[in-house]
Amino acid sequence: MNLQAPGMKELKPQLDRLDLSRLPRHVAMIMDGNGRWAQARGLDRSAGHYEGVKSVRLATELSSDLGIDFLTLYAFSTENWNRPQQEVDVLMHLIGMAIQQETPDLVKNNVHLRLIGDLERMPEEAWNRLHACEVATAECTGLTLTLALSYSGRRELTRAASEIARAVAEGSLSLSDISEETLARHLHTQGMPDPDLLIRTGGEERISNYLLWQAAYSELYFTPTLWPDFDKSAYLEALINYQGRERRFGKTGDQVKSSHL
Ligand code: IPE
Ligand code: IPE
Ligand code: MG
Repeated sequence: MNLQAPGMKELKPQLDRLDLSRLPRHVAMIMDGNGRWAQARGLDRSAGHYEGVKSVRLATELSSDLGIDFLTLYAFSTENWNRPQQEVDVLMHLIGMAIQQETPDLVKNNVHLRLIGDLERMPEEAWNRLHACEVATAECTGLTLTLALSYSGRRELTRAASEIARAVAEGSLSLSDISEETLARHLHTQGMPDPDLLIRTGGEERISNYLLWQAAYSELYFTPTLWPDFDKSAYLEALINYQGRERRFGKTGDQVKSSHL
């Protein structure tokens, strides 16, 4: 952990409550509440999206400083294409610009950018900036920061099913060889561990088509804090809360306890 990083001193009381040997390996986040943050201030919804970029930076920094391996952020769902065109345009412009601006710091902090979703739907300008960052951070070996863009869990599963069906039809895969691993290999997240912790800000308590397969055993943490207000302290609270949970994976509490002895 990098305790010398800016802002870490103020977080000391919370860091003292955190067991650094039991951190989640993969944290996924549904970044919700930008619009309501802006509307509460009499601002246009886009002001909330701009403000939300700060929280992305803070979550990335803290994940990286703590040594968390994977942070996966839901930035834009397939369903979000149905928002007013002006808001979609703002979001697409902002995502591309923010990633371009952050690229030097991501490289400096050894953060590897990965993109998941129906990326062919991304407008060219945003796509070029995102792809340039992917290329620039390709050799980075620290935190993997994954942005879910034009992402739909159901679509991801449907696509995987059709790829597997094609392989069977072509004879390169036999029906009896299809396992959970086969399916996982056909998801956008292939090669990544499942999220241990899934955080949703903004007060809604739903999954909204996010990581439907991967979150099968994730611990869910819902907070009313709106995404632009989700700072390092709020993130640490979620991590502390996660460490208070017992992950049973179908077993009994006694079985889990005896396996720790
Ligand atoms: C999350 O904030 C950002 C995206 C979904 C792209 P919202 O824009 O959904 O904010 P609320 O939920 O309307 O407050
Ligand atoms: C989920 O937020 C998608 C992202 C955060 C990118 P939404 O605001 O789109 O979710 P719903 O519509 O309230 O379920
Ligand atoms: Mg929302």
